Amino acid sequence: MRQRTQVAIIGAGPAGLLLSQLLYVAGIDCVVLERKDQAYVEGRIRAGVLEQGTVALLERAGVADRLHRQGLPHHGFRLALDGALFRIDMRRLTGGSFVMVYGQTEVTHDLIAAHWQRGAPPVFEAGDVALHDIGSRAPSVTYTVNGTAHRVDCDYIAGCDGFHGVSRASIPASVLRCYERVYPFGWLGILADVPPCDDELIYSNHARGFALASMRSATRSRYYLQVAQEENPLDWPDERIWDELALRLGAEAAGRMTRGSSIEKSIAPLRSFVAEPMRHGRLFLAGDAAHIVPPTGAKGLNLAASDAGMLADAFIGHYTGRSDALLDAYSARALARVWKAERFSWWFTSLTHRFPDMDDFARRMQLAELGYIRGSQAAQVVLAENYVGLPLDPPGTMPLAAE
Ligand code: APR
Ligand code: PHB
Repeated sequence: MRQRTQVAIIGAGPAGLLLSQLLYVAGIDCVVLERKDQAYVEGRIRAGVLEQGTVALLERAGVADRLHRQGLPHHGFRLALDGALFRIDMRRLTGGSFVMVYGQTEVTHDLIAAHWQRGAPPVFEAGDVALHDIGSRAPSVTYTVNGTAHRVDCDYIAGCDGFHGVSRASIPASVLRCYERVYPFGWLGILADVPPCDDELIYSNHARGFALASMRSATRSRYYLQVAQEENPLDWPDERIWDELALRLGAEAAGRMTRGSSIEKSIAPLRSFVAEPMRHGRLFLAGDAAHIVPPTGAKGLNLAASDAGMLADAFIGHYTGRSDALLDAYSARALARVWKAERFSWWFTSLTHRFPDMDDFARRMQLAELGYIRGSQAAQVVLAENYVGLPLDPPGTMPLAAE
């Protein structure tokens, strides 16, 4: 079976789905090819903090109704230092910015529902996806569904297929530069239908290791514990997790913590990764296909969204006949923002986690830096402006008008 479209999108994660929806709104034709089935894609539990820029893109894509009904605006968060809490007042420190707590799982669900509603669902269970002729003016993508071979001829390919996808692997190794740091620990996450222990998130640096108290709603909590990478979730029965959270989050938070059975439990590795450039010929990478951040700053989903927004604007510039300037600028423009989020996520991870090789001096440096943040408005502004999300293009750095 052979088909033609303007943009072939590989991957139905947040990057691919949001890009597809933004292109649809702009009248640009595209097809989304996804390796897994819909239930799998919608069932993945991921992070849940949206920057205002991400919310604006979801509004532009026409998928923000439920987000506005059910999302929780957060105007601050707490840091805990060996159990003692202090607050970062994001709104005051940034002149009014805040974040929205709304699960990536819900974002994905809303985007897929919008695709079905307009009669153009992603192609799920697309196997053997392969990219062809990305260096030419007539690229194509082939795949199979239930043993039947398909081919999509297109103008451009958007590689939104995550860290393990086929898109980045289709770029010749000689033109790709990868930068990577793998952290010597993972995050054990649990989801439980219990009220959160605080009305804001708590990031805790504790001598026993990092902990995070987060939430999905007034009745559903999400918690994380730093654990050794080789740990097995089976060695972490719920009671052990609650005990450890109580220790690391401190008496104040523990006193308000409601224990309950976990409805999801898993261990995720922590990694920083960037591939440059994010374009090769007619292939454009977006989201985890090009970069990974450790989850400490909650930037992964937001970077996927800002890539999708920049790439959508680039295609809109091209197809409305205005100019290819944004297509040509895409990789540099996206990477400029990506590297700043990489820096922030690396820094916030380094500040809050216990590293196996950490000596007393390194520990004292962490304590001193957290003490400095607690006492310095300037340091808090730096943390807050990064947490709420940096502007797409810092003032004065965008040579090409989007119009
Ligand atoms: N063919 C088709 N689809 C593929 C292939 C392939 N060869 N390989 C991977 N995929 C699909 C995956 O099944 C997944 O659904 O691509 C999608 C990529 O989605 P994500 O991994 O969610 O990546 P992205 O859309 O960039 O979103 C990034 O997800 O991992 C989190 O923290 C990260 O929040 C961030 C967000
Ligand atoms: C989450 O709720 O899953 C979450 C929140 C904040 C983070 C990471 C994950 O920094």
